[in-house]
Amino acid sequence: MLYPLIRSALFQFDAEKIHEQTIHALKKVSGTPFEALITQRLANKPVESMGITFPNPVGLAAGLDKNGECIDAFAAMGFGFIEIGTVTPRAQAGNDKPRLFRLEQAEGIINRMGFNNHGVDQLVENVKASRYRGVLGINIGKNKDTPVEQGSDDYLFCMEKVYAHASYITVNISSPNTPGLRSLQYGEALDELLAAIKTKQHDLQQRHLKYVPVVVKIAPDLSIEELIQVADSLVRHNIDGVIATNTTLDRALVTGLPYANEAGGLSGRPVQLKSTEIIRQLHSELRGALPIIGVGGIDSLMAAKEKRAAGATLLQVYSGFIYHGPKLIKNIVMGI
Ligand SMILES: Cc1cc2nc3c(=O)[nH]c(=O)nc-3n(C[C@H](O)[C@H](O)[C@H](O)COP(=O)(O)O)c2cc1C
Repeated sequence: MLYPLIRSALFQFDAEKIHEQTIHALKKVSGTPFEALITQRLANKPVESMGITFPNPVGLAAGLDKNGECIDAFAAMGFGFIEIGTVTPRAQAGNDKPRLFRLEQAEGIINRMGFNNHGVDQLVENVKASRYRGVLGINIGKNKDTPVEQGSDDYLFCMEKVYAHASYITVNISSPNTPGLRSLQYGEALDELLAAIKTKQHDLQQRHLKYVPVVVKIAPDLSIEELIQVADSLVRHNIDGVIATNTTLDRALVTGLPYANEAGGLSGRPVQLKSTEIIRQLHSELRGALPIIGVGGIDSLMAAKEKRAAGATLLQVYSGFIYHGPKLIKNIVMGI
């Protein structure tokens, strides 16, 4: 009831300014009596996956809380798990503004943020300061100025830093906003990266005496042949899970709308079907070898059910949450 009003007020202003102010406000609200205003107590709908018990299958997708500044506030809203990041070894400013656009008629978002974040050390400090003891994913990437051929160094560096604090780690090789990053999804580059990551995971497991699953996040813009190769690589390297999908470069469903020609990744309703198709294909390739976390345009219980029917074990939301608010989590968790 309230969220549509809040949304129409917020949508009067610049998208990134509102994002920053909301993060700031959520940070302030945590641990105060005002936290009750955003708290939703949801029924337990546990899902077992990757050796983790998720209290419900609806997670917060990466990119909303890039630095892990308001983990407690998102936890209060009832998310079954929270993914923070993408974080890079060193802090970086990201691309020039403006870089975030709402395509309201389509309930879409275009962003070319470019991994703006405060760096992995600050993220770890924020995680340590939070009260949250639930399932926490930490999504890692590479700095823009690290040559893509040395990209794996950045992923290994971040793994080392976040391992002790994460329930699972996401290797993001699918953002369209870091030049060359998506090339890590193909052929030898992918094999080399995954092999290095598995070796690192094994080493960290020995040192920390705990196993932290590693999942890989892929783009919705892969062809069927490419997807088959990715699936084969993930299985060969014993990767623990896959997140499908990130944002798309495809503008077919938003042609003619304001901002449709802005560069960057498109998310929300316009990516819904594409991402579901990728999940379906991936599911038929993987045949249960590893779980799929389905994300892309989930804006209703029905969309969530479609993702599950296509083969997703767990779900994540970002744009749908911006357009529909915390009630979306409740509707999905109650209905699923
Ligand atoms: C503004 C914005 C920033 C994002 N930043 C990241 C990011 O840093 N890392 C990442 O893996 N995905 C990022 N994403 C992608 C989302 O996590 C998600 O995969 C994608 O938006 C599709 O889901 P949705 O349609 O529910 O938004 C971002 C998305 C948006 C809209």
